[in-house]
Amino acid sequence: MCGIIGYIGNKKAAPILLKGLKHLEYRGYDSVGIATLSKKHIFVKKDVGKVGEVSSKLNFLDLKGNTGISHNRWATHGGVTQKNAHPHTDCSGSIVVVHNGIIENYRELKEWLIKKGHKFKSETDTEVVPHLVEEEMKNEKKFAEAAKIALKKLEGSYALLLMYKDDNIIIATRKGSPLVLGVSDHGYFAASDIPAFIEYTKKVVYLSDYDFVTLTPNNFKVFNLLEWKPVRRKIDTISWDAEQAKKGEFEHFMMKEIAEQVDTIQKAVQQDRKIIDDIVKEIKKAKGIFLIGCGSSYHACLAASYIFSKIAKFHVNVILASEFPNYEHFLTNDTLVIAVSQSGETYDVLEAVRAAKKRGSKVISIVNVMGSSLTRESDTFLMMHAGPEICVLSTKTYTSQIALLSLLAYALAENYEEGKKKLNYLWNIIYQLTSRTIREKIKELAEKLKDKEHVFCIGRGLQYATALEAALKIKEVSYIHAEAFAGGELKHGTIALIENGTPCLVFVSEDNKKEILSNAIEIKSRGGYIIGISSKENEIFDSWVKVPESNTENAIVQIIPIQILAYQLAVLRGCDIDHPRNLAKSVTVP
Ligand code: M6R
Repeated sequence: MCGIIGYIGNKKAAPILLKGLKHLEYRGYDSVGIATLSKKHIFVKKDVGKVGEVSSKLNFLDLKGNTGISHNRWATHGGVTQKNAHPHTDCSGSIVVVHNGIIENYRELKEWLIKKGHKFKSETDTEVVPHLVEEEMKNEKKFAEAAKIALKKLEGSYALLLMYKDDNIIIATRKGSPLVLGVSDHGYFAASDIPAFIEYTKKVVYLSDYDFVTLTPNNFKVFNLLEWKPVRRKIDTISWDAEQAKKGEFEHFMMKEIAEQVDTIQKAVQQDRKIIDDIVKEIKKAKGIFLIGCGSSYHACLAASYIFSKIAKFHVNVILASEFPNYEHFLTNDTLVIAVSQSGETYDVLEAVRAAKKRGSKVISIVNVMGSSLTRESDTFLMMHAGPEICVLSTKTYTSQIALLSLLAYALAENYEEGKKKLNYLWNIIYQLTSRTIREKIKELAEKLKDKEHVFCIGRGLQYATALEAALKIKEVSYIHAEAFAGGELKHGTIALIENGTPCLVFVSEDNKKEILSNAIEIKSRGGYIIGISSKENEIFDSWVKVPESNTENAIVQIIPIQILAYQLAVLRGCDIDHPRNLAKSVTVP
């Protein structure tokens, strides 16, 4: 995925866009570029690197004009090169475009345009867009009219911003990729996500697929691209503010977001009881339930399958969203799909939801980003209310997802109030676990592990989901190879890799301590270094992370020290914590 932001108004665009790009860096950070419009001239600066680096090199702030569009890239089509960085222009440099998404039919369009004499400068799919508009403008069409015709030729997904040198407007449009407008007293914004402009306004307009917006310094108009008629979109006011999108006292968003879990669990379980009851009715009525998600969200689904089984004696199927096509033929109009996603924009999740809807199944989703595609495409959705998660790693939203799914399980077991109380009470434990003292203690453990090549993580039952999430956290931020196993599985092969000092995180809960400790002993007798995550110390532990026993809520509390461990490992290894290499916050491509 990529991040885009445009501004038009009575202030200089470049500084606003530069700040916006910094806030959107979590969406992509291999190259960056800005185009501005001033006195019928388009100015473009772009290069490979992060916002700060490229801006110091090219001095973005030099760019003149009160209108501009900009882009953070996460490469899909074409390597990470200056030429492939956005913005892209037509042959004459008069039309300029930034794009998030994938134009699937770009090859055919490119061939057609080349035959018409267009010269391409990049390997990207995006570059067909300015050339298509240019081609339409040859037929005496005005910019907006030409853009409308050109955009109808695109297949795939896009959030696009377009400018033309002779018109002081920005065209903003979306299909399948996020785009939201910001309305301030000095101008208008169009961006992939609200943090890009939260400093200037809390007033937002969520756009729908095929919305085609013309932004001028004084107003905005929305049309439906397919039917070409005006549509009304209301202006919403968001509940969080710029402070929440800043690091505050923390050095990195990751640690800030880990610490926020003191509040976010409580926010997650603050739901409208009526909606929860309606969802419970749907769950009871359904013949077959699928929980789907990707990455950490998938791990939350897996944890929930144990929680549903334990609390509500209820079976749910858990499938990776990307593997869902293999199970689609089981779907009927009696099936219920529960889709879990922080961003609400993950391609595989959206595709699975679309497939389910086609077969008449009901879709309920658990999402953190209001206005995201998933909120629009589901029959019902529950918001996590975790506030913006800027670090590429999921931390607070992972535990919010589990809290919400646990709340559903408690409601299903007709134990809603009791369950909500238990979840609410976790703040106390999380407060201790995220305290400076514990963070320092975990740093000492990180010192011992920082030069290791491999880490193994084991757990049984619910703790297996925690082990998977722990391994993912360690891998993605510290680049140490970490692998998770259900406690009984390591000895079926992988135990061959255990050498003197190989670290193994062992997640222990009261109900499976006998079995998991016996697995830990198997590892220890081959030289493994055992790190116990449990409520009680044990002689086989070489290191111990104390976490109070919390039954099914272990899924929330046991992962927190490991989020901190992953963070500390990354700090000690000098990794780029909020922007790990090769990653992007939401994966909007197949
Ligand atoms: O926005 P989503 O929850 O749908 O994203 C799913 C995964 O891409 C995400 O959880 C990813 O695995 C994170 N990097 C985990 O930290």
